[in-house]
Amino acid sequence: MADFYALAELMEVAVFVVQGAEFRYVNPAATRMTGYTRDELLRMKFWEVVHPDERALVRERGFARQAGVDMPQHLPYRLYTKAGETLWVAFSGTRIDHEGEPAMLGTAIDISRHKQVEEALRRSEGRLRRLVDSNVLAVLISDLNGRILEPNDAFLSMLGYTRADLPLRWDALTPRELLPTADRAITELRTTGVATPFEKEYLHRDGHRVPVLIGIALLEHGGDECITFVIDLTKRKRAERALEASLAELRASEEKLHRFAAREVAVREAERKRLGFDLHDNVCQELTGVGMLLASVRHRLGARQTSLATDLVRAGDFLAEIVEHLRVMARELRPLQLRDLGLGESLTALATRMSSPTTSVVARVPAPIPRLGDDVELSVYRVAQEALANALRHGHPRSIVVTLVADDGRLRLEVRDDGCGFDPALRPRDALGLTGMEERALALGGRVVVKSTPGAGTTVAFDCPLGRTSDAPR
Ligand SMILES: Nc1ncnc2c1ncn2[C@@H]1O[C@H](COP(=O)(O)OP(=O)(O)O)[C@@H](O)[C@H]1O
Ligand SMILES: [Mg+2]
Repeated sequence: MADFYALAELMEVAVFVVQGAEFRYVNPAATRMTGYTRDELLRMKFWEVVHPDERALVRERGFARQAGVDMPQHLPYRLYTKAGETLWVAFSGTRIDHEGEPAMLGTAIDISRHKQVEEALRRSEGRLRRLVDSNVLAVLISDLNGRILEPNDAFLSMLGYTRADLPLRWDALTPRELLPTADRAITELRTTGVATPFEKEYLHRDGHRVPVLIGIALLEHGGDECITFVIDLTKRKRAERALEASLAELRASEEKLHRFAAREVAVREAERKRLGFDLHDNVCQELTGVGMLLASVRHRLGARQTSLATDLVRAGDFLAEIVEHLRVMARELRPLQLRDLGLGESLTALATRMSSPTTSVVARVPAPIPRLGDDVELSVYRVAQEALANALRHGHPRSIVVTLVADDGRLRLEVRDDGCGFDPALRPRDALGLTGMEERALALGGRVVVKSTPGAGTTVAFDCPLGRTSDAPR
């Protein structure tokens, strides 16, 4: 018996002997657990160390156990410490003989930590359950082998099933070609306990596919049951498709607009060319013919009717001026030199022609411009021509600078004047020149920006993709 007490003194578990209502022995662990000293405990009734609610029960059971009544050996009780704290303990008791009289040997282990963990677990399980049952989200508990153990109603109705259809398997609800995705998620689950949310599809009972986003977590690390949260993406996918369709439509009409603009430009260009040829080859020739006729009439008059002869000379000079003027016009209408000289040199020549004693027009082409498509070269030339004409006609500037640069796959033209400027927001509706520039930009997939402030000059900036380039002579 002495050995027993020596052992009990060392134990972490509370050990005590109760006889009648009194403690006969308590070990140090019992004093630590209850907060009472050994002397205090030896003067107390044994039921006084348990929670007031349980005192009557413990008192009754204690006496019954000493009297030899059969009783479960292990029971949980709430201890009530000297400081007034409640402590869950696992109690074990057995009837013994103490100094020739019946008594009870008891032990108690503190299980409060376990109780707390259990309680926390119960609370979080409760929260999870409420989330599952609320059916806000489709949730299912399943195993990794394909069995669905517990789907919620939201999950079932998302796929057109009812509880009568249970049991179901998630692998059977997954399109065959998506099973490898599920395998990847399972591998991830086994290693980390959670699968990164991913998109997949389920098969609806009626055969159509339901696009979803799912997140999965193992319920227990190393186990094979998991909880899966499912978000139905049907509406989002539908919206995405509608958006794509209208974007495609938009692109198509943009493309159509582009083609219209290009055709418009081509038609106008052909018209100008025809006009240019007509002017040059027919009108000018005929006028030159008229001029020759005039000269011959004057010649035939000889020394007679000198006043008439003078008028004839004047008419001839006037005619020659008109012809010259028309020739210039014809040349601009069909800028043949563009083909031979290329854009850079053609613009330089244009600038020189436009220059006058009152307005200096300078072209800056810092680096050679590669040969571009006919349509690009002609359009850019036309934009420069129009911008220059506008500057001269409306702005009356002292200087105009034309800059042409090709870099980063784009062609940039800038025509800057220091003339009177204007408010681009107030430009007239029938401003055909500016509209024409915009149309050309549209046809080439480029853009034109006109910046101007009354009194502070005007800058026309045009740019477009270089498009096809070639070094081949034309
Ligand atoms: N460089 C410029 N300086 C001053 N005003 C300009 C300039 N370019 C355009 N404008 C103004 O914008 C208007 C529209 O130009 P445009 O479309 O070429 O038509 P138009 O030259 O036939 O008048 C012009 O009438 C003029 O008032
Ligand atoms: Mg104009």
